[in-house]
Amino acid sequence: MIAVAENPPGGHLVFPREQHLNAFAKKFASFIRVPLVIHLEGDLGAGKTTFARAFIRALGHEGRVKSPTYGLLEHYKLDSVQVLHMDLYRIGDPEELAFLGIEDLLDERTVLLVEWPERGTGFLPAADFVFSFAYAGEGRDLYWSALTERAQSFDDTAFIS
Ligand SMILES: Nc1ncnc2c1ncn2[C@@H]1O[C@H](COP(=O)(O)OP(=O)(O)OP(=O)(O)O)[C@@H](O)[C@H]1O
Ligand SMILES: [Mg+2]
Repeated sequence: MIAVAENPPGGHLVFPREQHLNAFAKKFASFIRVPLVIHLEGDLGAGKTTFARAFIRALGHEGRVKSPTYGLLEHYKLDSVQVLHMDLYRIGDPEELAFLGIEDLLDERTVLLVEWPERGTGFLPAADFVFSFAYAGEGRDLYWSALTERAQSFDDTAFIS
């Protein structure tokens, strides 16, 4: 059973420019332990795919990182991990997730990133981290929470941008 704290630890990071968000994603990637589920929340254009792109590249992917808005799911098989990147913005009904077969793809080496997770409620694995991106003038803010023991055991320096 996964322990979920009532007031989960979390914090707030400020990214005045995209390069700061990219640098954070790269650093965070160096701290991950798999399996891991990260829900990426925030309005259109808030920075979810920007984070995912820099994170997936930092883990060793050299090609394009497409936004999975139309296909719902992009799959990256990398050296030591696999990343499943989902975007549920266009999903009609969360039940569609049952037919996508993500449960079959999840294994001990998987990092699952989900944009618009609120559209898949009830059909997604529980989040270890929730990253919530928000507009802050011309930059972006990130509010993060660590919901599971696994997430809470991350080194604090992963969140110093
Ligand atoms: N820290 C930042 N400061 C300013 N602009 C940023 C910052 N981070 C990202 N951006 C810009 O904001 C936009 C974010 O787009 P992105 O595709 O990442 O949003 P998204 O949250 O995935 O949206 P969607 O819900 O449409 O998938 C990009 O144009 C990017 O260049
Ligand atoms: Mg996106």
